Amino acid sequence: LNINENFLRLEKSYLFSETGKRAREYKAAHPDEKVISLGIGDVTRPLVPAVIAAMHKAVDEMADSDTFRGYPPEYGYDFLRQAIADNDYQGRGINISADEIFVSDGAKSDCGNILDIFGPSNTIAVCDPVYPVYVDTNIMAGRTGDDFIYLPCTGENGFLPDIPDEKADIIYLCFPNNPTGTAAPVSYLSKWVDYANANGSVILFDAAYEAFIRQGGIPHSIYEISGADKCAIEFRSFSKTAGFTGVRCGYTVIPKTLICHGYELSQLWARRQATKFNGVSYITQRAAEAVYSDEGRAQVKAVIDYYLGNAALIKKGLTDAGIAAYGADNSPYVWFRVPSGFDSWGYFDELLSHYQIVGTPGSGFGKSGEGYFRLTGFGSRDDVIQAVERLTK
Ligand code: MLT
Repeated sequence: LNINENFLRLEKSYLFSETGKRAREYKAAHPDEKVISLGIGDVTRPLVPAVIAAMHKAVDEMADSDTFRGYPPEYGYDFLRQAIADNDYQGRGINISADEIFVSDGAKSDCGNILDIFGPSNTIAVCDPVYPVYVDTNIMAGRTGDDFIYLPCTGENGFLPDIPDEKADIIYLCFPNNPTGTAAPVSYLSKWVDYANANGSVILFDAAYEAFIRQGGIPHSIYEISGADKCAIEFRSFSKTAGFTGVRCGYTVIPKTLICHGYELSQLWARRQATKFNGVSYITQRAAEAVYSDEGRAQVKAVIDYYLGNAALIKKGLTDAGIAAYGADNSPYVWFRVPSGFDSWGYFDELLSHYQIVGTPGSGFGKSGEGYFRLTGFGSRDDVIQAVERLTK
C-alpha cells in the first residue's frame, strides 16, 4: 500500500484549522474572557426571511409523496440554474446560459476539484498572499515549488500584481480578493484575459465576494471582460452572498466556448461531477433560488451592507490609530500591517492573549503576507465596536 506522499509536503494543518485550534485552546484556558472572533470569514447573521420561507416550503414538499424528491439532477435543478443565468449573468448583459452553470456544495470544493480536469504538467500562477486552498490542492495533486509562479501582492503594487513574463497554464484570480480585500477594475482584469488568450491559459476566477462590490467600474463577473468566455472558469458561492456557509451551495460556470485542444472543458467538468458528486439537496436549491426573489434580494443586500459597515468601522479604527489598512470598500476583509516588532503569527498571539481578538495572520496566506494581518467584517456590530475599542485603546 502507498499513500499519496504529496500530502506530506503540505503544511501540517490547514490555516483555519490552526487559528481555530489556538482560539479554542485560549478560550478553554480563559473561560471568563470574552473572545471576539474576526478570523475565518464565517457569517454570523441568520438566513434572511425569504430564504427561510423557501426552505420551510421545500421541507413540506419533501414530506408529501406527491412532491417528494430523491436524487437531485447532477448539475442542479433547472429552476436554480435558470435563476442564476437570468439574474447573475443575462440581467447584467453577460451571455451565460443555464446549461453552462453547474450547481455545487460551494466554491471551496469546486476550486479544489476543478484540478481533476487538468493534466499534471501545468504551471500555476497564484497571487501571494492567496486563499490557501488553491496552493494546497495543487500540492495534493503532485505539483511542487517549481510548478508555481507566485505573484507578490504588496502595498507597493496596490495588491494587484503585474502580469508575469513567463507563461502560466492555469491562473487563479480572486476578486474582490481574499485576503487583501482589493477589488480589481476592468482595465486590470482585461490584461489577464488578454494574457490568457494569447498563451492558451485558463483563468480560474473566484468571485465568492462579488456581492460586496459597491463601486462602479468593478466587474462582478470575469465574463464582463471581453474574451473571458474563451479562457475563464468562474466560481460563485451563496456562502458570503446569502449566509450559506452552513447550508452549502455554490456554482461553477464554464462557458461552452472554453475549449482546450479541441475539448470543451464544460464537458469534462460535467463528466467529473456526474461521477464524483451527487448534487445539492432540493431544500438548499430552493433556498438559493429565493435569494433572487425581490424580497430575497433586498434582504440579502441589507445583510451585506451590515457586514460592509462592520468592515468600514474596523478600517477606520485602524486608520485613526495610524495603521495602514486596506480593503473593506468592496469586501468584508480588512488587511493591514502589523505593528513593528511583530511578525504575523506573533501578532495573532498578541491579539488573542492581550485583546481577546481572533484574526488571521497574513503569513498564513503566503510569504508576501508576512507582516500583514486580516480581520473580517462578518462579526456582530457589537463585537466589532468592542474589538475596535480594544484595538485602538
Ligand atoms: C476565509 O476566511 O478566508 C474564508 O472563510 C475561507 C472560505 O471561504 O473557505
